[in-house]
Amino acid sequence: MEIYLDNAATTKPEKEVVNAMMKALNEMYGNPSSLHSKGLEVEKEIKKIRRLLARALGCDEKEIIFTSGGTESNNLAIRGLIERNKRQGNHIITSKIEHKSILNLYQKLEKEGYKTTYLDVDEGGFISLEQLKEVISEDTILVSIIHVNNEVGSIQDIKEISKIVKGYNPQISIHVDGVQSFGKIKYHVKDLNIDTLAISGHKVNGPKGIGALYINKNIKINPLLIGGGQEGSLRGGTENVPGIFGLGEATRLLIENQDIYIEKIYNLKKYLMDLLEKEIKGIQINNKLNDNYAPHIVSILLPGIKSEIMLHSLASDGIYVSSGSACSSKDRKLNHVLQAMGIKDEYIDSAIRISLNHRNTMEEIDYFVKKLKEHYITLKRIIRR
Ligand SMILES: Cc1ncc(COP(=O)(O)O)c(C=O)c1O
Repeated sequence: MEIYLDNAATTKPEKEVVNAMMKALNEMYGNPSSLHSKGLEVEKEIKKIRRLLARALGCDEKEIIFTSGGTESNNLAIRGLIERNKRQGNHIITSKIEHKSILNLYQKLEKEGYKTTYLDVDEGGFISLEQLKEVISEDTILVSIIHVNNEVGSIQDIKEISKIVKGYNPQISIHVDGVQSFGKIKYHVKDLNIDTLAISGHKVNGPKGIGALYINKNIKINPLLIGGGQEGSLRGGTENVPGIFGLGEATRLLIENQDIYIEKIYNLKKYLMDLLEKEIKGIQINNKLNDNYAPHIVSILLPGIKSEIMLHSLASDGIYVSSGSACSSKDRKLNHVLQAMGIKDEYIDSAIRISLNHRNTMEEIDYFVKKLKEHYITLKRIIRR
């Protein structure tokens, strides 16, 4: 048996996605820059997929460029935006609960001479708009905020953030890491009034190594990769055609089924949270079932048992969850998101993240909670001895 509940780390590609990628590899292998028909047919297909993504995000197709994923999109946006604004100032703002692709980049930028501010979050995982108002200054050139946090699922109010930032100075750029929000909550980028937004294929049942960046057509950014003029000269390098085809298929499925997917995931989250609270004594749940949290993430603490031990016990039953984000589980530091939320270190050590997909079922949740309960009781008994 295999029960995959680590969908914030990555998702299993849909069958249609794999088929579309196989088609790119087996048949449509031309270079989209080639002038002959083998290239042109691919270029035409990529154009269609760009239009599809623009539809899913609520923007113009000219505002979408393909990248290698969320990390590259975040790096390209931030580097591109600050380079464009550097004559205006050197202060850049983000939050303490960003993904490492933002936090580590900010640390690097600090070394390069930028002044950084990391906004605090409250115990629910939400930044304070009051603090944002206080720290924003004439020197500020960029605000980068994660839309849906990958550890606890808290949704930041991007519209309000944008009102504050653009109200203070419309020249300040806003980047949004939308990797965990794309497909999980409904929005149109145009309503958010932002400059750039990053998404990633492998979080929405698409392939790994492909993503996109929305770039508002009113702004210009500098590229990271200089090459043969692909992606409007904003991202050089021959396109990852199988990846783009896969992302296209994942996006098509999302456009057709998003409401059904979201409802299914929400119902699974409700079922899971109710069952956890009913069945497991001593458990603490770090997020809630309401509109302030994305429907696919449940973060729990199991006091007394290290998450790594629980993770391996569950894996021996074929159940896969996470003790934090997959990108950070290799460095053994405590989870920075839970730390920023004020959770005590000894509790953080027991944190488990369960993340859902429309492919999951209630029966899987039943089995997961049954096994979690068994392991928790057994492990606590062993430790007490
Ligand atoms: C919020 C967030 N941003 C960025 C990324 C990085 O995306 P990718 O794996 O496509 O580089 C992730 C992936 O874990 C994420 O969860």
